[in-house]
Amino acid sequence: MGRTNNFSSIAFFLLLLILGCSAAPIPKLRARPQPCKRMVFYFHDIIYNGHNSKNATAAIVGSPAWGNRTILTGQNHFGNMVVFDDPITLDNNLHSTPVGRAQGFYLYDKKDIFTAWIGFSFVFNSTEHNGSINFAGADPLMNKTRDISVIGGTGDFFMARGIATLSTDAFEGEVYFRLRVDIKLYECW
Ligand SMILES: *[C@@H]1O[C@H](CO)[C@@H](O)[C@H](O)[C@H]1NC(C)=O
Ligand SMILES: *[C@@H]1O[C@H](CO)[C@@H](O)[C@H](O)[C@H]1NC(C)=O
Ligand SMILES: *[C@@H]1O[C@H](CO)[C@@H](O)[C@H](O)[C@H]1NC(C)=O
Ligand SMILES: *[C@@H]1O[C@H](CO)[C@@H](O)[C@H](O)[C@H]1NC(C)=O
Ligand SMILES: *[C@@H]1O[C@H](CO)[C@@H](O)[C@H](O)[C@H]1NC(C)=O
Repeated sequence: MGRTNNFSSIAFFLLLLILGCSAAPIPKLRARPQPCKRMVFYFHDIIYNGHNSKNATAAIVGSPAWGNRTILTGQNHFGNMVVFDDPITLDNNLHSTPVGRAQGFYLYDKKDIFTAWIGFSFVFNSTEHNGSINFAGADPLMNKTRDISVIGGTGDFFMARGIATLSTDAFEGEVYFRLRVDIKLYECW
């Protein structure tokens, strides 16, 4: 009996210790830094629709068994994957001189909400910008703005890290959309 009591008091003491530790004050969150670089670009996605192979900059490469790769499927395009090579411009005009290419893919990943996951690079090769910026993240398309991660960069954007705020600047049927990309870098070299 005495042994059991000893054990249980030790166990109780240990429990108190553990509780004590987890109740230790949580360190205050650090204030968020200001971006060291900020840039705004637009890119233009023209999705192949069976008739626009000349102009299309994006192609459906994956479709669920109940769909096809010509037209985005129903149920919020769930299961479709699209690869793109889109022109980047400084303003919202598709016909402005491109300053680079946005290259990557997006896939629709929810049946009951229009939402996607997107991963792409901005590829620049000019005297103004030379290098790449890499982006990835969840893209809940119905939100006016969506934050995705800037996960890296090369060249002029060596080791870039930050946040890119996406907004859909234009949307025309299921053939054309234009994204505004507001890039805030918090690591610059
Ligand atoms: C290609 O794009 C141009 C400019 O937006 C448009 O005038 C033309 O009709 C398009 N052609 C096709 C085949 O979609
Ligand atoms: C693809 O699916 C759409 C919608 O179900 C249909 O209208 C179209 O005919 C299909 N196209 C091909 C090439 O199977
Ligand atoms: C980048 O631009 C240079 C100079 O215009 C050119 O020689 C080179 O081939 C280009 N590189 C790519 C990957 O397009
Ligand atoms: C961009 O950088 C690459 C690698 O440093 C170089 O080969 C290329 O010529 C540069 N392009 C331009 C347009 O300066
Ligand atoms: C999208 O909007 C919903 C509802 O307003 C919000 O709860 C969610 O955090 C937003 N997501 C992103 C990634 O901004």
